[in-house]
Amino acid sequence: MAFPESFLEELSARNDIADVVSNYVHLTKKSGANLFGLCPFHSEKTPSFSVNPERQIYHCFGCGKGGSVINFIMEIENLSFPDAVQFLAHRAGMEVPEDAPDENKSRRTRMLELNRAAARFFYEQLVAPTGRTAQEYAEKRAISGVMVRAFGLGYAPDSWNALTDAMEKLGYTRPEMLDAGLVRAGKSGGVYDYFRSRLMFPVIDVRGSVIGFSGRVLGDGEPKYLNSPDTLVYSKARSLFALNLAKKSKSGYIILSEGNIDVVSLHQAGFDSAVASLGTSLTSDQARLIARYTDQVIIAYDADEAGQKASQRAIGILQPLDLKVKVLRIPGSKDPDEFIRANGPSAFHSLLEHSGNQVEYRLDNIEEKYDLSEQEGRIGFLQESEKYLASIADNVVREIYIERVAEKANVNRDAVKNDVEHFRKKQTKSAKKQLDRNASSPLRAAQPPSRQLHYTNVRSAMAERGVLNLLCRFPELFNGVMLSGMDFSSEPMGRLYDALLRRVQDGRGVSPATLEGQFAPEELALLADILQNDAVTAAAAETALRDYINTIQAEKYKASGTEDLRGYAEKLKKTKGYGGKDGN
Ligand code: CTP
Ligand code: MN
Repeated sequence: MAFPESFLEELSARNDIADVVSNYVHLTKKSGANLFGLCPFHSEKTPSFSVNPERQIYHCFGCGKGGSVINFIMEIENLSFPDAVQFLAHRAGMEVPEDAPDENKSRRTRMLELNRAAARFFYEQLVAPTGRTAQEYAEKRAISGVMVRAFGLGYAPDSWNALTDAMEKLGYTRPEMLDAGLVRAGKSGGVYDYFRSRLMFPVIDVRGSVIGFSGRVLGDGEPKYLNSPDTLVYSKARSLFALNLAKKSKSGYIILSEGNIDVVSLHQAGFDSAVASLGTSLTSDQARLIARYTDQVIIAYDADEAGQKASQRAIGILQPLDLKVKVLRIPGSKDPDEFIRANGPSAFHSLLEHSGNQVEYRLDNIEEKYDLSEQEGRIGFLQESEKYLASIADNVVREIYIERVAEKANVNRDAVKNDVEHFRKKQTKSAKKQLDRNASSPLRAAQPPSRQLHYTNVRSAMAERGVLNLLCRFPELFNGVMLSGMDFSSEPMGRLYDALLRRVQDGRGVSPATLEGQFAPEELALLADILQNDAVTAAAAETALRDYINTIQAEKYKASGTEDLRGYAEKLKKTKGYGGKDGN
């Protein structure tokens, strides 16, 4: 609809662009008439996003976005022009001129109202006597009534039409319910409730709108969670469960966990800054969302292998945004919820206090692989830790952890330091060589399609691509192949290989679609790119595979400096005083 000019003028006057933008961007540096901050529309480390309060405009010198306060809201909230106007009018407490308010209500507003009505319906079902099974489940999970209300939890009854009927009574149409992802189209032209017999968690955005739902099965069963599909008002990859509550926390950090139950349990125990992503692994949009509210994130994923892998991934996504990242290790329990129930909130609090930074996390992971009471274990631990330490650019941090590692392995600090420096020199040299080689080689053009991925060892990466290609096309060749994702120079390709190989070994298909959710979009795009190639024929596949594996292993050998192993054992033997001293 067309808004009167005078109205739009008043709207902009009452929504100062610097004020509005500050809700999303930390505007600091002032240069001339402009305020600067980190652009919310693209990733960057130095501010190139500017706001000019005098002219009431914004502009990013990095990505080129710019415009008025209305345009800013359209971009950042992903709204249409009329919806952005509504949004700003609401913010300034203004009435939007409307000739026929009800018909003109945007689809977006209708959908949010429908979602809210559905959330109320689910809540009423939970507290009603007929909600017994769900109440019992909540009790079994020790979720208090206070939390039920704070999160607006609910129960989707075991019925194909309870929600549909209730929403129809309130005047919502089936197409509207379909659009909102609350119902599904049945075969005979009807619709049926999407969420049935589940504990319902409304997803509420930072403005308090109900934008979607997660439904957890009551007890065991698959799938554990059903999540609303993306809709006009909901994007899973851009939302975080409980951020509406966590954003008010005074704790100074955000706790990132996996399950909705973990989040509720954390809040109940007083950790009011817990959030979870909604059935996707952490996305960079979610990370940016977090960065609006805090500069420190504590990852508290499940203790299992999948959780640990996801932690590594999350670190990689959070770190580029200059967020301080710590990873919590949860000893003896599968997740934060179980830990709190077994040990109480104060024990969890001390876990938080002592949660290691990424360096500690990596070193702990390495340490777990070895038995430090055995000489061989200590050698392995030292070898691997030193190589990792060598990759730390910060001199002070490196020094600190050289000390720790030496103490843990009970060897002389200077010996460790020498080795680390030796590895460092080698790494720089080989990085430089690699660079020279790449620069002059036709392989230079062979980098992955996404700029977020980069091959550090192009020769190995080409072979790794070949292996992935063959694995998908000729899985039967992989019986008994001695190659692991750990051998890969490219971390994402290594993970893709492991995941696909596991599927092959389980006799399942290897279509990339099955990996959706476990891998970032750019990683799946890389896989798609790799699969486009069918240059290697079936007849040549076996030989090609052997060559690829040889290349990967040769490159790995070159990079690892294994030739130092023997010298290492010698040195250790000369160092006195194994054992006895407590590791730290
Ligand atoms: N998950 C999901 N959708 C959600 C939340 C979680 O698909 N809305 C998935 C996550 O991707 C993860 C798993 O469920 O793989 C995490 O669940 P878990 O921590 O086991 O969930 P909880 O609710 O805490 O369940 P449990 O009672 O088993 O701890
Ligand atoms: Mn859990």
